[in-house]
Amino acid sequence: MRIVDLINKKKHGESLTKAEIDFFVSGYTNGEIPDYQISALLMAIYFKGMESREIADLTDAMVRSGDTVDLSRIEGIKVDKHSTGGVGDKISLIVIPLVASVGVPVAKMSGRGLGHTGGTIDKLEAIEGFKVELSNEDFINNVNTYKMAIVGQSGNLTPADKKLYALRDVTGTIDSIPLIASSIMSKKIAAGTDAIVLDVKVGSGAFMKSLDDARELARTMVDIGKSLNRRTVAVITNMDQPLGHEVGNANEIKEAIEVLSGRGAEDETEVALTIASYMAVLGGAFKNNEDARKHFEKLIASGEAIEVLKKFVEIQGGNPDVITHPEKLPQASRHIEVKADLEGFVGGFDSEKVGISAMMLGAGRRKKEDNIDFAAGITIKKKLGDHVNLGDVLCVLHTNLDDVAEAERVVRSAFVISGHKPEAVKYIYEIVE
Ligand code: URA
Repeated sequence: MRIVDLINKKKHGESLTKAEIDFFVSGYTNGEIPDYQISALLMAIYFKGMESREIADLTDAMVRSGDTVDLSRIEGIKVDKHSTGGVGDKISLIVIPLVASVGVPVAKMSGRGLGHTGGTIDKLEAIEGFKVELSNEDFINNVNTYKMAIVGQSGNLTPADKKLYALRDVTGTIDSIPLIASSIMSKKIAAGTDAIVLDVKVGSGAFMKSLDDARELARTMVDIGKSLNRRTVAVITNMDQPLGHEVGNANEIKEAIEVLSGRGAEDETEVALTIASYMAVLGGAFKNNEDARKHFEKLIASGEAIEVLKKFVEIQGGNPDVITHPEKLPQASRHIEVKADLEGFVGGFDSEKVGISAMMLGAGRRKKEDNIDFAAGITIKKKLGDHVNLGDVLCVLHTNLDDVAEAERVVRSAFVISGHKPEAVKYIYEIVE
């Protein structure tokens, strides 16, 4: 087989066979096929697309390019969730205890933040003592006993995706739906789960800027899941503004505590309950989404949900006191109010800029090797549709840095103040099953 023939085939819009997809994925992973030929092939895929069967074969080839996690010693239907990436997205912290509390095993592997988006693993490390590296034995035992455990990504999972993603990043081929869908699903499938709920974000802070694109990405990922025998549901959610009010690490833990205590922001609570409900249904604990949701609402109101979060922190070595005393979480030395210099309504948001500003304050990394400051972050005081008077506080910056002028300029430009009240925002657009 010659890679140039595959490039020509795809250039003319023809489908690649399973053997051809295996050939280019394994050849690129082991270094036999050079970057320049794979770049040409990726660009041909970008323009000509792939049919469902090819996308499933590509995903499967990426899964087989490295190690896979064996969760067969965990009893029950293992359920995972994945977000396509947003700002202020702390949904995993909320849904893990909820879903575990109904007996559905959540064996979660999560990532760290890079650039404007945060990562669940970083957020959890804001809790004193919380261990994100567990031995395989402890991970499996925790899930079997408590139905929940989380670890950072490790090992040689989907090396083909790592190489292809890095190449896509520098060849203008990131925003291709077949390539995004296979990249995300290969990682989830390699992590060993039986069922997956996907949170596909759409809006200014998301990869997908239009609902049509989000729908296509959701459909493509759900179809991959079906082809590879994983129960998969996608929830398309709004990312036109940061979720909830907190963006950062320690402050996002604080906000997750608020949601599980029944005092959460409406958007955050709605998205978390929807995702947790679908996870519980896929895991076989409920017949339908409505029953699951009612159960979770009761669990939150009764105070049981927050107790499960405390247990989660404790079994991973963290200090459970922070859940009842969030003031024990890392605190920044400076809190700077950003005030409105215009009157009107918050008519639009550039969520990505909020994420970039939080990163500048120390809450995120510019490069993989950077350290983060768990105490740094932003509290959003005005959200879409809120009325703003001159001098009202739009947001508060939390930092340990002396000079935050640039971060302040960036976050200020994220707020679009307009003369008209915008239409009410929808938190959940659609469910794709
Ligand atoms: N996230 C991924 O893991 N892969 C992509 O291609 C895009 C977003």
